[in-house]
Amino acid sequence: MNTSEAPLLTDSELKLLQALIYQECGMHFDERRTHFLHDRLQRRLKECQLDSFYGYYRLLISPQGKAELAKLLENLTVNETSFFRNKAQLELFQRDVLEDILDRKRARKDYSLRFWSAGCSTGQEPYSMAMLIADALSYYQLRNPMPQESPLPKPLIAPPWRLEILASDISYSVLRTAQEGFYNEHQMSAVDYGCRLRYFDKVGDRYVTKKMLKDLIHFDFHNLKTEYLPQRNDVIFCRNVMMYFDCLWATPKVFWASPTSFRWCITTPVRRTSESR
Ligand SMILES: C[S@@+](CC[C@H](N)C(=O)[O-])C[C@H]1O[C@@H](n2cnc3c(N)ncnc32)[C@H](O)[C@@H]1O
Repeated sequence: MNTSEAPLLTDSELKLLQALIYQECGMHFDERRTHFLHDRLQRRLKECQLDSFYGYYRLLISPQGKAELAKLLENLTVNETSFFRNKAQLELFQRDVLEDILDRKRARKDYSLRFWSAGCSTGQEPYSMAMLIADALSYYQLRNPMPQESPLPKPLIAPPWRLEILASDISYSVLRTAQEGFYNEHQMSAVDYGCRLRYFDKVGDRYVTKKMLKDLIHFDFHNLKTEYLPQRNDVIFCRNVMMYFDCLWATPKVFWASPTSFRWCITTPVRRTSESR
């Protein structure tokens, strides 16, 4: 292939690739985002040393093309995130939603808590959830002590409560970063000093999440477009994810196909435009 000449992307090739991407991960690229899609496809084509987009499409649908398909999807995701993103929403969650869940669970002597961060990117969302829930639960236990005191020193989540956070994403590289839990000063800007002291260690000029916080979270690959959805969640966080999807399938699916004990699914508002299908 002559690398100085980029191959043309025809309309029919674009349609084929758009349909494949939609089928695989639910991402919909309308006219406003075609330029971005074209750019990412071109980079992958070059990497694979292929000279036509149709050839690239054939590779993607072949049994040998599975790894390349995963790489392409990784290249198409937008991974922007931050600690305590949309603070007002998280405060509402901590003050009202969580309190209500804890009351209702305690009344029926069910002390298991399970939350899902769907589309967790590099981990700031599930770590923020873990910090908020651990703090809220400690305060709740002060106000509602159990007949038996828990052993000293108290673990982060004192028995009988158990907390599990599932954090999933379609991109293996963001999941690796999340699992490692290293963040620089700029990424830590929304984390106050109390939280830094309790939940992070300083390593050189970066912060790393403490093991006790990491142990509350299970990071795993999951594609929201697939049939299987994790069950038994108390709350699903699916924020800043569905705006890249065709909202006709994504919202109802996550809301209803993965039942939460109290039907709480925390999302970001999605505006339907005339270009949305
Ligand atoms: C913009 S980030 C949002 C991160 C976090 N939820 C927040 O609000 O800060 C969107 C994430 O969704 C993930 N994603 C996109 N499509 C997905 C899919 N089909 N299944 C699972 N995750 C997906 C991307 O890889 C990306 O990490």
